[in-house]
Amino acid sequence: MNILLLGSGGREHALSWKLRGSLQCDRLYAAPGNPGIAEEAELVAIEATDHDSVIAFCREHDIGLVVIGPEAPLVDGLSDSLRGAGLPVFGPSQAAAQLEGSKGFTKDLCARAGIPTAGYVRTASLEDARAALARFAAPYVLKADGLAAGKGVVIAETLAEAEAALADMFGGGFGSAGAEVVIEEFMQGEEASFFALTDGTAIVPFGSAQDHKRVGDGDVGPNTGGMGAYSPAPVLTPELQAQVMAEIIEPTVRTMREDGNPYSGVLFAGLMLTADGPKLIEYNARFGDPECQVLMMRLESDLVDIMFACAQGALAGMETQFRPQTALTVVMAARGYPGTPEKGGGIALGEAEAAGAKVFHAGTALADGALVSNGGRVLNVTATGASVTEAQARAYAAVDAITFPSGFCRRDIGWREVAREAMAKRPLQN
Ligand code: AMP
Ligand code: GLY
Repeated sequence: MNILLLGSGGREHALSWKLRGSLQCDRLYAAPGNPGIAEEAELVAIEATDHDSVIAFCREHDIGLVVIGPEAPLVDGLSDSLRGAGLPVFGPSQAAAQLEGSKGFTKDLCARAGIPTAGYVRTASLEDARAALARFAAPYVLKADGLAAGKGVVIAETLAEAEAALADMFGGGFGSAGAEVVIEEFMQGEEASFFALTDGTAIVPFGSAQDHKRVGDGDVGPNTGGMGAYSPAPVLTPELQAQVMAEIIEPTVRTMREDGNPYSGVLFAGLMLTADGPKLIEYNARFGDPECQVLMMRLESDLVDIMFACAQGALAGMETQFRPQTALTVVMAARGYPGTPEKGGGIALGEAEAAGAKVFHAGTALADGALVSNGGRVLNVTATGASVTEAQARAYAAVDAITFPSGFCRRDIGWREVAREAMAKRPLQN
């Protein structure tokens, strides 16, 4: 079958690599793509915001499956337009994508379905929000309701900081995403990501990962879209994963279906592993970036079969297989990220892939045939190993083979698990 993939990040490079590797895939097209995706797919200049031209392209090129990578086209209702035209789509409807597009929507659903998550109040004005702060204690968790490119969450240490952040949010600092603000109870614990595929009824667990959101080593500095990840996340034990399925994922999928908004695609749960068990921080309606890169590195099953089954409501009875190794990815970003990244910096990949590592492209471009940076997160240098420690060593060996003078990366991706692996090896002291 012919497939159209929408997106241009490292996530989509990893997806294109797995889609291309499927026996089911005849021609793979990607829009807009990037130079890495161009090695797997034919790039086409159609805009995801122009639903009619996406539909026209699909008809002209006999597309049998459309895969939507990022959240914006989902929240914009592209899946609905494509389904309306009879095209199979991997990705939820606009109504179902509210699980990512509106934090208030998700919190209300959790409350109705008894899903463990932080206590919360939805507020629609600065006065309401300031009054609601009295019901919480520091640190205050404030969230712009809508999509804010990962920047819509403020954790304020003091009441004064919280009030200033609320004034900024309601003052338009987050655009229309801040028209409503959710105030939440602060949860303590370790974070982990869990993925499940669903066609609206059947659900298949699809692995775990841990991201590194802060820009600096030791988890300091501003939040980013993610500076590196590994999968699986051993902290999410099989018992905890079963609990997450039963207490969080299954009731969500059931409630969405019962409400008339069946969810199909990948459901990405950001979790806090608290002393009272796993609690939902947030949902995303798409794969994580860079979590997708490590999942794809481990995936053994045919990605086209799985995505097509989701799109067609035929997921029941399907199983997915992952290699048991750990995959770890290091994000190389352009200087300035997560602020204003320097564009046009030269990149030479050298022998980075020589020892089995894989370099996924995110914000890259070609300038006169030479590879340059063209965004904040630029490369995802990904390797596998028998442990996080081994995968980490291999990933950094590949990073060190790359020349990217205006780039930087964290040097400690995987640190939590590397420390636990070192503890487990240490002889017991008496
Ligand atoms: P989100 O965009 O909802 O994933 O939030 C961004 C980050 O803020 C999360 O990855 C957490 O580190 C933190 N966070 C969000 N909600 C809470 C909460 N209720 N308690 C503690 N930390 C939170
Ligand atoms: N890496 C986090 C995300 O994709 O939302």
